[in-house]
Amino acid sequence: MKIRVPVLKTLGVCLALAFSSTALADQPIVVKFSHVVADKTPKGQGALKFKELAEAALPGKVEVQVFPNSQLFGDGKEMEALLLGDVQIIAPSLAKFDRYTKKLQIYDLPFMFNDMAALDRFQASPAGQSLLDSMTSKGIKGLAYWHNGLKQMSTNKDQLVRPEDIKGLKFRIQSSDVLEAQFRQLGANPQKLAFAEVYQALQTGVVDGAENPWSNIYSQKFHEVQKTIAITNHGALDYMVITNSGWWDGLPEDVRAGLKKAMDGATEYANQLASEINDRDQKLIAEAGKAKIQTLTKRDVAAWREAVRPVWTKFADQIGEDLIAKARASNDE
Ligand code: LMR
Repeated sequence: MKIRVPVLKTLGVCLALAFSSTALADQPIVVKFSHVVADKTPKGQGALKFKELAEAALPGKVEVQVFPNSQLFGDGKEMEALLLGDVQIIAPSLAKFDRYTKKLQIYDLPFMFNDMAALDRFQASPAGQSLLDSMTSKGIKGLAYWHNGLKQMSTNKDQLVRPEDIKGLKFRIQSSDVLEAQFRQLGANPQKLAFAEVYQALQTGVVDGAENPWSNIYSQKFHEVQKTIAITNHGALDYMVITNSGWWDGLPEDVRAGLKKAMDGATEYANQLASEINDRDQKLIAEAGKAKIQTLTKRDVAAWREAVRPVWTKFADQIGEDLIAKARASNDE
């Protein structure tokens, strides 16, 4: 029997489709994880640990590609890219969610948490955990909190002890209205800048100062372009690891479970490491001897605390008094 040409063609197309779908089924799911800091920071180490654990748990099923240092997307674009599906996981600082929820502003209130242990307790509490779901209506799912550390003030001036020492100075801030209010309250001029632009802005004098934990200061060499870093511990810089909820919900069940387990493991790892890295980097900055590290007395710290107190009142309605009370209570345990 002769086979007619159109039938042959159809057969060809079917075979090609069968082959390509087999090929596709064999392809691992690519999970792009983009962030803005260096590999040797708490977040950088957490992302690499997540890759290791996810690929070990789901061999051949997922490939995690980690892009550090704003290589793939910087601050301005990463959230948009996540919502468009161009990247699957990002971990912005909690100060960068203003546009999506006002609740996370709780983490930016100056002197909210006495130490990282208090912050950790709040994040682990029902109130802290519920904030992971505070952006689901926007298509964003919170997978975990990752620690970095407490922020220190730095400037290109010799004198940095009291709040009045930063009057009139220009400060780089993350894109947070609370941080903007904090610096205005101190009589300084805040400027929102992407993390990748900070070194140059400090070096060229576009801004006089900044605030960051030791790990970011050291890994970005900010201490080489600042004169004084004061140990103010005036606020926290932590992260929410987030994904696109549509993408996450559409994953095969076993892959989602494997990624969740890998995320839990990476979270534990990164959070244990964070204070160690910050302590190490504080020492390395001291050893480098480029910027002076200024210790403050209890009275000095009290003066900073007092000076920024009105910021809490300003944001109380947006954040909610009840949430503020719960966060404060985490200091007592
Ligand atoms: C910053 O912009 O200073 C930080 O949020 C960077 C980071 O991701 O730690």
